[in-house]
Amino acid sequence: MFIGLDLGTSGLRALLVDEAGRAVGEADSSYDVEHPNVGWSEQDPRDWTMACKTVMARLRDAHPKTFGAVRGIGISGHMHGATLLDQKGTVLRPCILWNDTRSHVEAAALDAMPMFCALTGNIVFPGFTAPKINWVAKHEPEVFAKTAMVLLPKDYMSFWLTGIYSADMSDSAGTSWLDVGARDWSDDLLAATGLTRSQMPKLFEGSQVVGELRQVIAGEYGLPSGVQVVAGGGDNAVAACGIGAMSEGTGFVSLGTSGVLLAGRDGFSPMAGSAVHTFCHAVPDQWYQMGVVLAATDSLNWLSRITGQSPADLTAELGDTLRAPTTVQFYPYLSGERTPHNDSAVRAGFVGLDVATDRAEMTQAVLQGVSFALRDSLEALRLTGANFDTILAIGGGARSSYWVEMLATVLNLKIELPEQGDFGAALGAARLAICGVTGAAVEDVMTKPPVAKTIVPNAAMVDSYRLRYDQFHDNFLAWKTIQ
Ligand code: XUL
Repeated sequence: MFIGLDLGTSGLRALLVDEAGRAVGEADSSYDVEHPNVGWSEQDPRDWTMACKTVMARLRDAHPKTFGAVRGIGISGHMHGATLLDQKGTVLRPCILWNDTRSHVEAAALDAMPMFCALTGNIVFPGFTAPKINWVAKHEPEVFAKTAMVLLPKDYMSFWLTGIYSADMSDSAGTSWLDVGARDWSDDLLAATGLTRSQMPKLFEGSQVVGELRQVIAGEYGLPSGVQVVAGGGDNAVAACGIGAMSEGTGFVSLGTSGVLLAGRDGFSPMAGSAVHTFCHAVPDQWYQMGVVLAATDSLNWLSRITGQSPADLTAELGDTLRAPTTVQFYPYLSGERTPHNDSAVRAGFVGLDVATDRAEMTQAVLQGVSFALRDSLEALRLTGANFDTILAIGGGARSSYWVEMLATVLNLKIELPEQGDFGAALGAARLAICGVTGAAVEDVMTKPPVAKTIVPNAAMVDSYRLRYDQFHDNFLAWKTIQ
């Protein structure tokens, strides 16, 4: 048996699977995100370990026999967070998360240094890890002075589980300190933020074993001794492992808090200018590229808070039949945007509201705006050479078949819905553990799940959505200028 842990932004999910990767049980525990200032987003790493204790106890109680047969653990985590530890491994301040934009000035300064793009293949986005360290050095010098180790969120979990400092290539690629083509820390990039290799954990491939579960944790939950923990990976890479999007021609669209359009790549072919992210995959010798939309279901959740209606009730109001695109445009930049704009200052808005606009039309505009933003990412991905005609849909938003049909129509791609619910990154993490512990080949384990349904573009509406997308795209600069 194996456990996949998915350290998400709003909670931790644990999935218990057998050696064939079949789900046997799952448990969840949620935690909060603190926003102590505008643009700030933080989490206390102790909340992650508390949640881990909760899910371990829940899995053990629900599956006492199978839980005792666990041999390996894999971890997926939200990316880019800066968890700073002192010499003794004590957390120095709350983790600064991926969606925290306080370090946009520091990010722009690093991005202006050509070596960052040359070595990482990416823009230094404000949400990435390196600029956060420069912000801490400037605003909290006493914390910076004590920083002996910088860990990504899931690597802190791994440290808690094993007592070992580790990192994997896929998550580390989002720090701006990794030479992404060479799969190694860059001493020059580290030096630009006042750090050295000694403050970074040892690098592993995602399916490599880092070490054994600490005896005290194994004892507490009745796990056998010798449970092996693999390095795991960043959430999108690991979700790709969960649905077999590993190589050229495969990919997924994720409608989560953020929206992601991801393409597996056989080589390293960055194109930073398009604001596409080019990262190492969680398995050796593979890479992936993705466009990231910062507020996907977050946009619908925002409308839900404003209207007092649940997201499901809002989408139900639209009915089952895809409507023609509304003339009301919604720019979904509630938290700024990464692909293709790389603009942490731009904000969201409705354009073209009429006295007759009702709630359903506003919901339509929100779903449409997020779909158009993902179309922007598709155009950017295509520039890099990534190509596919079918992708899988994952994430909470994929539960709305209305939204998925709209997305298929906007992207003009077939979208497949996996049969087995959405185990996403938790399944990918368990699969990495299976590979690491049993030595099974990646291509045998990271397979595509059975498809429940294929949603095809609505042929009658492709052109009208295309025209509305062109307007959304062409008017972006005008929208930005009037803010
Ligand atoms: C990827 C990114 C998000 C986070 C949170 O670059 O920032 O996908 O990992 O899920």
